[in-house]
Amino acid sequence: MNDSAPLCRLDQIPDGDAIAARVDTAAGGFELIVLRQGERVFAYHNECPHAGRNLDYAPGRFLVRDGQLTCAVHGATFAVTSGACLGGPCRSGLVAMPVEVVEGDVRLR
Ligand code: FES
Repeated sequence: MNDSAPLCRLDQIPDGDAIAARVDTAAGGFELIVLRQGERVFAYHNECPHAGRNLDYAPGRFLVRDGQLTCAVHGATFAVTSGACLGGPCRSGLVAMPVEVVEGDVRLR
């Protein structure tokens, strides 16, 4: 069993939307985008492959619609379920982190 701290509760993520979650490490940590589609969750580093900026338009607030996440900086779009670049100035996808839901907690796998 994974005993790391949960990223959040599943019900903290509005269905079809995303929140930010902080992962603390000895090296200082990083921030994830945690997206929800029903009972499924997906997590990616909050770093756009276009220019290395965070994707949120305000801290922890993301542009998510119709299964696509749009970077708020220059408009690159990514698939929620894979992180693949779908359009805009990105040439590669988002860096995924494997997550799972255990008893309502969203955790890194
Ligand atoms: S930094 Fe995301 S599209 Fe440019």
